[in-house]
Amino acid sequence: MVKNKNLLIAGNWKMNGLKENLSMISSLTKYIKKKNFKNSEILICPPNTLIDSFSSFSKRSNLMIGAQDCSSNESGAYTGEVSPLMLKDIGACAVILGHSERRDYQKESNKLIHDKAENALNNNFLTIVCIGETLTQKKKGNTLRIIGEQLKKSLPNKIKANNLVVAYEPIWAIGSGLVPSNNDIYKVHNFISNKLNSRYGNKAKKIKILYGGSVNKKNASSILSIDSVNGALVGGASLKFSDFKGILDFCN
Ligand code: 13P
Repeated sequence: MVKNKNLLIAGNWKMNGLKENLSMISSLTKYIKKKNFKNSEILICPPNTLIDSFSSFSKRSNLMIGAQDCSSNESGAYTGEVSPLMLKDIGACAVILGHSERRDYQKESNKLIHDKAENALNNNFLTIVCIGETLTQKKKGNTLRIIGEQLKKSLPNKIKANNLVVAYEPIWAIGSGLVPSNNDIYKVHNFISNKLNSRYGNKAKKIKILYGGSVNKKNASSILSIDSVNGALVGGASLKFSDFKGILDFCN
């Protein structure tokens, strides 16, 4: 059990999940109700197609439902885009922004992620902004420089600290089974925390910093116990109830 910490455990389903996966959410809501978490918040971010049905389940427990992206605009001629207002309309209260897969495949820039984050925060969304380095950047010793730049350019100046979350996801750790050492996670989280402190002052204390990348039921307890880690952003291990439960079992 990871004691005395307010943790946020967020599941990013990526492009996985069909209506048949409602049974996973049904089991999860029952488990959350029974366990009655005092200090931890649980969030699932399925594809947009499932938000509506998942959020009707989540109303019966404290499970939060979120999206994996949103538009930087409110409405209008933006084909294919979905705004925070629309996501809120179907029950989402959170959004993941700037995931490395979107930075890479959709060529999302820090500036675009900044604008999306501003829009999401203005709509009172729990806004999770992802940052992280590639393996090459790590090998060249550039991790902190890259993270520092992403933080500076992706986060808005005006924030609602209660609603802002930073997720450190080393790109080489995503889906690979590789995880940085606890000491390396600590160092990067500490660096992020210092940057947030100097930029936002007192408000920074409320910003949670999550670790993401190959978190599973075997390593969760050790990662979540690291001083500067306030939760986890979980990919693969959030898809199956038994795997996700294995992580939540360490939370209270
Ligand atoms: P995995 O947990 O599958 O490594 O994915 C992490 C991730 O990308 C969460 O956003």
